[in-house]
Amino acid sequence: MSKDALMLPEAFPQLQNDTFLRATRREATEHVPVWCMRQAGRYLPEFRESRAGKDFFETCRSPEACCELTLQPLRRFPFDAAIIFSDILVIPQAMGMEVQMVAGKGPTFPEPLKEPEDLQRLQAKVDVGKELGYVFKAITLTRHKIEGKVPLIGFTGAPWTLMSYMIEGGGSKTFSKAKRWLYRHPEASHMLLRMLTDVIVEYLLGQVAAGAQALQVFESHAGILGPDEFEAFSLPYLRDIARCVKEKLKESGKDVPMIVFAKDAHYGLEALSQCQYEVVGLDWTIDPRAARERTGGKVSLQGNMDPCALYAPKERISDIVKKMLEGFGTTGYIANLGHGLYPDMDPEHVGAFVEAVHRHSRADKCNGGGGSGGK
Ligand code: CP3
Repeated sequence: MSKDALMLPEAFPQLQNDTFLRATRREATEHVPVWCMRQAGRYLPEFRESRAGKDFFETCRSPEACCELTLQPLRRFPFDAAIIFSDILVIPQAMGMEVQMVAGKGPTFPEPLKEPEDLQRLQAKVDVGKELGYVFKAITLTRHKIEGKVPLIGFTGAPWTLMSYMIEGGGSKTFSKAKRWLYRHPEASHMLLRMLTDVIVEYLLGQVAAGAQALQVFESHAGILGPDEFEAFSLPYLRDIARCVKEKLKESGKDVPMIVFAKDAHYGLEALSQCQYEVVGLDWTIDPRAARERTGGKVSLQGNMDPCALYAPKERISDIVKKMLEGFGTTGYIANLGHGLYPDMDPEHVGAFVEAVHRHSRADKCNGGGGSGGK
């Protein structure tokens, strides 16, 4: 196939392993599907080699590099889904903000938003195709190169998480600069969250048009909000994103499962399960059985092994996975970690995690247990 043909979202190879998609619909599967957040990351030597000496966001802008990095973990492990290599901070960039990835420090905004007047610096109407077309190209190219092995997940940061970076200017323990806006400038906060929501909806629709087969929304900073602030400044926008994306997709006769991952928002679990997302992602602070009860079997669940459990010996990982599967049941469940993989993790232990999920969930079927759904 010519290079140009690889860029067209047409005639994608047929999907061979649909366990992940079936699990999002709470259908029966041969085994519990598994993937890891940050599966394309620095714990892999081949990732470090590909990324060596290259600027992070330059890498994000190269469809070929993103495709290669997305495929790397699939060559090592039988993951049941791939997630496109990119970053949540491409949206603030598309809205006109500068973001650098500083080694040892993480994402850094040289000129963060300080006061409500600074909203004027942002591009209100973003031409998503022009500013983020490189992500769409990466998705289309990857859909061809993945050869139908597993579905490809697209993603975005959620409005509050993006807003917190744009105001804080980088990572933070307290995110007090960003939270100051919520208490001191609620109207401007809502204005910014609305602007971000509009861009995110267009961005997710573009990802589906380019070939994404599922979408995950990362509200990674949900946990620094209390229940009331979560309900006021996070939840309405998460809800809007699912509603608008689904409405628009329906118009074009498409339907793509959506996952919401609001890290540490245990208090919001009931509400999150009623926001039209097919799947709710969980961090490791939530007990699997309690999560099933509180979500009432209406959604699939994804997660939630403590990433640090991967530091345990392999036999112990296997036991932890078994217990997790017993807690969630094997239907309507996608195994994952409760957050991303860390750079110092041993790839062999990641392999042991994936293998344990497959082995224990197949064994469950042999014993006649079709998954209790946590009941
Ligand atoms: O494999 C995958 O999961 C897909 C790729 C992916 C990346 N970032 C690649 C990346 C995804 C889904 C993200 C999302 C992302 N980015 C989030 C939400 C998920 C979460 O972790 O809560 C957040 C908060 C960011 C912002 C961001 N980008 C951070 C905090 C960092 C780490 C900085 C550091 O130095 O540790 C990044 C950089 C980043 N994004 C890396 C990767 C693989 C590591 C840097 C590198 O490759 O050089």
